[in-house]
Amino acid sequence: MEKRGPAIVSHSSTPDREAAMNSPTEMLEAEHRVIARIVGITPLLAERLEEGGVIKPDILQGIVEFMRIYADKCHHGKEEDLLFPALGEKGVPMQGCPIGALVADHVSGRSLVRRLAESAEAYVRNEPEAYEGLIGSLRGIADLYPGHIWKEDYLLFPMTNKVLNPDELDALYSEFEKVDLRIGHDSLERLARLAGDLERQFG
Ligand SMILES: [Fe+2]
Ligand SMILES: [Fe+2]
Repeated sequence: MEKRGPAIVSHSSTPDREAAMNSPTEMLEAEHRVIARIVGITPLLAERLEEGGVIKPDILQGIVEFMRIYADKCHHGKEEDLLFPALGEKGVPMQGCPIGALVADHVSGRSLVRRLAESAEAYVRNEPEAYEGLIGSLRGIADLYPGHIWKEDYLLFPMTNKVLNPDELDALYSEFEKVDLRIGHDSLERLARLAGDLERQFG
């Protein structure tokens, strides 16, 4: 299977550009790199809380918003609503390995983020049990996502590039772009900047 071009828009008018089109799996991989910035700081924040340190509530709320909009609505949305069904149509089983296991990870991720959001609200209200919820959910996110991203980068995406033909990959890329458009490029860029800022601050 040919290696597809990077997920960038080119204004080149050479005929070769027709072949080197944008890749949906590279788009998802690029999103993984942004998500990994937030995931990478979660154990550091948990450690700070375990040591009795303080984290500003707006940091926690920023992580919740990032995980809900960028990681879940945008990224998991592309995977669950578009990529997995496209693979299912080509005969990849929707239960078991790999798709069933990846969906189960998404469900676990949502539950951890819900717990993080509730604990962040309790933290603002100065409720002592907030600490346990914050530490547990931050550690849970840190434990879940690196393995999930690895399975997708090294197993799911290479498989996708074999199972879908170039036209199907192009169609998927166009559908992914529509997801970005619906959520809003400004929101996604703001959240990606937030991930970089938090990584610099805490990483
Ligand atoms: Fe995923
Ligand atoms: Fe993913």
